[in-house]
Amino acid sequence: MMKMSRRRFLQASATTALLASTGGAHALVAPSLPYPRKRVANIRDLKEDQPILFSYPDDASPAILVKLGREAFGGIGPQRDIVAFSSLCTHQGCPVSYEKKRFICKCHYSMFDPAKNGQTYQGHASEWLPQIILRYEPRTGDIYAEGVEGLIWGRASNLIAKK
Ligand code: FES
Repeated sequence: MMKMSRRRFLQASATTALLASTGGAHALVAPSLPYPRKRVANIRDLKEDQPILFSYPDDASPAILVKLGREAFGGIGPQRDIVAFSSLCTHQGCPVSYEKKRFICKCHYSMFDPAKNGQTYQGHASEWLPQIILRYEPRTGDIYAEGVEGLIWGRASNLIAKK
């Protein structure tokens, strides 16, 4: 049986409760911190399995947006298959890349499942990859980042206080 941290257990419980209340639609809980709203791409820019790099919630936080081609937890868009994650590995902060429907960290070969909230399933990383909460505007096709689920590697808080 897979080990799950207390934080992930609580997140999973909240997600399960939300799914039950939304009739099974995959959605993430709105963040309570004051995250910025950032336009990441337009749905017309996306092609299946061709990731788009961006940064969120600030310029020091690299992230990856990808259209998986299959429904994903927290996925948005007509097929609920568009997801985004921090691209810093939760083990020691190496960059992860998207290959063959998974995120892989080549420092110590941790792997994360983008269809399952960034769940780690191989390697040294024990924490899931932080998922960027996205919003899709059907009228324009724009995709916005609006929060982060999970702590970005190397940070005490995802939001750095401005000086
Ligand atoms: S830094 Fe990614 S597995 Fe070690």
